[in-house]
Amino acid sequence: MSTQRPPRKLHVVTHGCQMNVYDSARMTDLLRPLGYESVDAPEAADMLILNTCHIRERAEEKVFSQLGRWRVMKEAKDGEMMIAVTGCVAQAEGEVLAKRAPFVDLVVGPQAYHRLPELIAQAHRKTGTVIDTDFPVEQKFDFLPDDAAPQGVVSFLSIQEGCDKFCSFCVVPYTRGAEASRPVVSVIAEAKRMVAKGAKELALLGQNVNAYHGEGPDGKIWSLTRLMQTLSEIEGLERIRYTTSHPNDMADELILAHRDNAKLMPFLHLPVQSGSDKILRAMNRKHKADEFRRIVAKLKEIRPDMAFSSDFIVGHPGETDADFEATMALIRETGFALAYSFTYSPRPGTPAAGLPQVETAVKDARLQELQALLRRQQDEFNAATVGLETPVLFTGKGRYPGQIAGRSLWLQPVVVEHGQDLTGQVRMVKIHHANPNSLLGTLLEQETIAA
Ligand code: SAH
Ligand code: SF4
Ligand code: F3S
Repeated sequence: MSTQRPPRKLHVVTHGCQMNVYDSARMTDLLRPLGYESVDAPEAADMLILNTCHIRERAEEKVFSQLGRWRVMKEAKDGEMMIAVTGCVAQAEGEVLAKRAPFVDLVVGPQAYHRLPELIAQAHRKTGTVIDTDFPVEQKFDFLPDDAAPQGVVSFLSIQEGCDKFCSFCVVPYTRGAEASRPVVSVIAEAKRMVAKGAKELALLGQNVNAYHGEGPDGKIWSLTRLMQTLSEIEGLERIRYTTSHPNDMADELILAHRDNAKLMPFLHLPVQSGSDKILRAMNRKHKADEFRRIVAKLKEIRPDMAFSSDFIVGHPGETDADFEATMALIRETGFALAYSFTYSPRPGTPAAGLPQVETAVKDARLQELQALLRRQQDEFNAATVGLETPVLFTGKGRYPGQIAGRSLWLQPVVVEHGQDLTGQVRMVKIHHANPNSLLGTLLEQETIAA
């Protein structure tokens, strides 16, 4: 007869950026040795984790509506369900959250989740909410288990966290704390484990990933460029990407790596936020629009197939029609393959929140205009790939039977009719049609190509 405890069930919901996606996966890894297995249905779970985002007001509203639904479930189970709130809302609003949602058992900041097992035990012993939003001196990465569940062909790896840049609009420096880079050996060890489990593409993550400055095995500080050079020597790894970058940390050696490192993709996500120097100054971005132009021009020169993505905020306090027009001009000049854009959302505790605000109707109208332009550029970019013969990394099955799906060098989803499963392989594909959010192609029958 087995004396083993029945498995406990865990359900995790993730909001926000890729770093949260990574953190959620690591929390799941951390709880597995305690007997927690993941389930898809929240009502079947003993433990619910909501990993939250605080970046804009709407993100925060999503937290309370989600928690409202979970509260009903918890009551239906006579309270036999633990609810944890983690991530950036937990960090920013810990006490408020515990007051507003007292049925939440645990509130854990993004730097403290390696303590989850201990915090869960505490929550079992006590009534009321257990809160841990410290920025501990130890690095959480040192406390995470090695046996992570495989993420798949494309794997995300956090290498840097936090931010010291304090842009006028942004909560990240407050929710994630000061910038810190993981040591090189720890990154390489995790990368090797990921590749051994089938990863072909690594996406290196950080709020300011190109500011990476991790301690190397030689005792020296390594840059992102040097780290990626070493990672590119891992056999079986085909592609490397990094996100998110800041224009001020776009070193020349990193630009050149897009020519010299064969595994580095010809694609860069480089948020610029605005094309107006006045607004960039108000945002505390510490660079001008021309600096962004120079980076783009240099990259296009050394790597003509380079494509760009960015983030834009419209309606930052002080933004006039002329400032907005400067942003539109920068977009027209650059030509983006992809972009994310938002109306400015005042965040409590950030400098711009206290300034006179641009009217909502004005912000909304500007966003519509900007998104229409970006949409046209994305369509043009996709259309320009029609006729190309280009390598595609296959990641799995397509939506319909007989289809397989992968991604292009430029992150576009590519769908191919093919009977055989090519997951994990890079194969040449001829693109013959562009849909708004994906490309259709046919396989060029030839050997698997090495990177
Ligand atoms: N670290 C990255 C991005 C962080 S947040 C960087 O420095 O670029 C992702 C994006 O959210 C930002 O690039 C910005 O465009 C947007 N964002 C951040 N705060 C915002 C706010 N208060 N209102 C609207 N958009 C915001
Ligand atoms: Fe936020 Fe600016 Fe830091 Fe990016 S660089 S995380 S926008 S403060
Ligand atoms: Fe959101 Fe925190 Fe990421 S605020 S965007 S989850 S760093």
